[in-house]
Formats: sequence, structure tokens, C-alpha cells
Amino acid sequence: MRELVVNLKDHSYKIYIENNILYNVASYIKDVYKNDKVFIITDDKVANLYLDIVKKSLEKDYKVDYVIIKNGEESKTLTTYAYICEELLKKDIRRNNLIIALGGGVVGDISGFVASSLFRGIPYVGIPTSLLAQMDSSIGGKTGIDFYNRKNILGAFKQPLMVLIDPKTIESLDEREFNNGMGELIKHGAIGNKKLLDLLYSKPNITEDIIYESLSVKKRVVEIDEFDLNERMTLNFGHTFGHAIELKYGYKHGEAVAIGMLMAIKMGIDLGITDKSCYKPILDIIRLYNLPDKIYDYKDYLTDVFYDKKNIAGTIRFIFLTKLGECMIYKITEKEIKEKLL
Ligand SMILES: NC(=O)c1ccc[n+]([C@@H]2O[C@H](COP(=O)([O-])OP(=O)(O)OC[C@H]3O[C@@H](n4cnc5c(N)ncnc54)[C@H](O)[C@@H]3O)[C@@H](O)[C@H]2O)c1
Ligand SMILES: [Zn+2]
Repeated sequence: MRELVVNLKDHSYKIYIENNILYNVASYIKDVYKNDKVFIITDDKVANLYLDIVKKSLEKDYKVDYVIIKNGEESKTLTTYAYICEELLKKDIRRNNLIIALGGGVVGDISGFVASSLFRGIPYVGIPTSLLAQMDSSIGGKTGIDFYNRKNILGAFKQPLMVLIDPKTIESLDEREFNNGMGELIKHGAIGNKKLLDLLYSKPNITEDIIYESLSVKKRVVEIDEFDLNERMTLNFGHTFGHAIELKYGYKHGEAVAIGMLMAIKMGIDLGITDKSCYKPILDIIRLYNLPDKIYDYKDYLTDVFYDKKNIAGTIRFIFLTKLGECMIYKITEKEIKEKLL
């Protein structure tokens, strides 16, 4: 078992990483939630696999109800958000009840957003089940849905009461979903933990320790910059271009991040920031995990990203690797882009 505390000013919380923790959920939740009713939000695929286990583990101590949505990114919409709220209200949810988000990043993001807004905020616990959600999206408190063909454009910061991670659930992911999670795991190694990155070349089993190391990279920056104004932006490595292509070409999040990392490395090399030696090892590891290595010219997307949310007063803050395991935030103006890159 590994344990991690995310220390935030007003709402610190614990993350427990333990094989088979799903069978033992109530004993952890009891520490942070004293009322009698819980509402699980999950998707149809995860429900088939794990809902009964989690329900059984909770029923000893709580009244349990649930809402099931369709699996996949297509569910991260206003319509599904409204559906969840309606179902919860029909089931007589109260503001002092608990929501449990059981599923991948989609369930996590939309349930967190419901928890941030229903009754102006109700407590929630995350039980992430996909690799991507376990090693990344389960911490940091970013919640939201897609809207107007833009990723995560409606959302809120909402920290969970607790996160419970069962690495055993990774075993039921299909290969594409597993590799998708590897996209973000590789990113965490690339920006902040060279040892972790090196380890991934051996295609290790994803253990409690690997998830712990990956989350630790994120924890470090979330703690110093909860609201994503400075250091936390380093987690966006590969995302500026990644988001530009994710919905456009229908890539999964981790796949788009993989491509986005290659684009950002090229741009960093052209600007003289990124060491040239970074490109090949990242390309190699992306191929090792069968992630898409399609090359899009970053220059074709500079205009798109300039109008994205990261455009603060005429500058974009890009994240570039300096070398493997280290990165920096670089502010660039439209003028500099035109002079140096186009
Ligand atoms: N909030 C954040 O900080 C943050 C960070 C990264 C990504 N995200 C978001 O997360 C989403 C992607 O997450 P995801 O890849 O988990 O997507 P997802 O939730 O759609 O899960 C992917 C698929 O795997 C299935 N699945 C989940 N757990 C499973 C398991 N244990 N066994 C078998 N199948 C399982 C799901 O039903 C789904 O079909 C994106 O919307 C992205 O924007 C959020
Ligand atoms: Zn991401």
C-alpha cells in the first residue's frame, strides 16, 4: 500500500494506492464521511466490471444508490451533466450526501463537475479505474465537460475528499486504453522524473509504486499552484498542441498528448530551448507503447493555440523540455513566433 497526501491550503486530502482496495472502500470512506447515504456515478462498462464490488463494500455502512452513464468521451457533455443531476435529484440526494466517482477520466471529470455545482458543491470521493485516471486526472481537482467543440471548457476546481486507487483494475483495460494512459505516464517521466521515464522502457507491470511516482510528479506542482497559474502549467507539456488535435481528429487524450509532446519538442528545439537529444527517446517510447507517432507540423497549429485559453495578454506560455526529466515554462509573444518560427 502506498499513501500520498495532497497538501492544499483549505482542503488537503489523502490518496491510497492499494491492490484490491475496491473490496474495502467503506473502511477508508468512514474516515472522511459520517452521513448515511452515498451516490456512485459510473459508466456502463465500469459498472459491469466493478459496480457490484464497490456497492457491496459500501452497503455494510451506507445506503447506496447509483447513476450510470454511457462510457466514452462523448458523455462529457452538458446533456449528460444534466442527466446526472436530474437522476441524483430524483433519487433525493441531499447536500450533505457523498458522490463517488467510479470510472475513468470522463466519469471523474463530469462527476467532479456535478459535485462542484450541485447545491453549490457537495463532497465527492474519486475511485479512478483507468490507468490515465489513476496516474493523472484523479488528483489536482480539475473537473469539467467539453462544450462548443472545446475540451474541458466548462468546469471548476473541486478537490475530492479522498482518492482510492486499485491498480488491479488496470488489468481489465483493453490495449488501446492502457497505452492511452501510458501517454500521460510518459509525460510525467519526461517533465519531472527521469528515473520513472527510464523504467518505462522495460515495459514494467504498473505497480502501486509506479502510480505513486507518477502522482508524486503531479502532487509537487499542484501543491504549489492549485489553480494552474504558474508551476502547474508544466503538466501541460504536450497538451497545448494535444488539445488542438484531440477533438479535431478524434484521438484519445493520452494519444493526443503523445503527439503533442513530439510537436512541442520540435518547437523547443527550433527555439534553442530543448536539447536535440530529447526527440528520439520520446519518439521511441511512444512507439514502444503503440501510441500514434503521426507528425503534425507544429507551425500549422500556432494560430489555433494562440486563441486557446492559455493566451494571457498576447502571450502564450509553452512548456518545453530542457532535457529529459526537466522542463520549463516559456512565455512567447505572437511577434516572437512570427520572427523566429514562421
Ligand atoms: N481532470 C484532469 O486533471 C484530467 C487529466 C487528464 C485527463 N483528463 C480527462 O480524462 C479523460 C480521459 O480519461 P480516460 O482515458 O480514463 O477516459 P474514459 O473515462 O473514457 O475511460 C476510457 C475507457 O475505458 C473504460 N474503462 C475505465 N476503467 C476501466 C477498467 N478498469 N477496465 C476496463 N475498462 C475501463 C471506460 O469505460 C472507457 O470506455 C478525458 O476526458 C480527459 O480530458 C482529465
Ligand atoms: Zn492530460
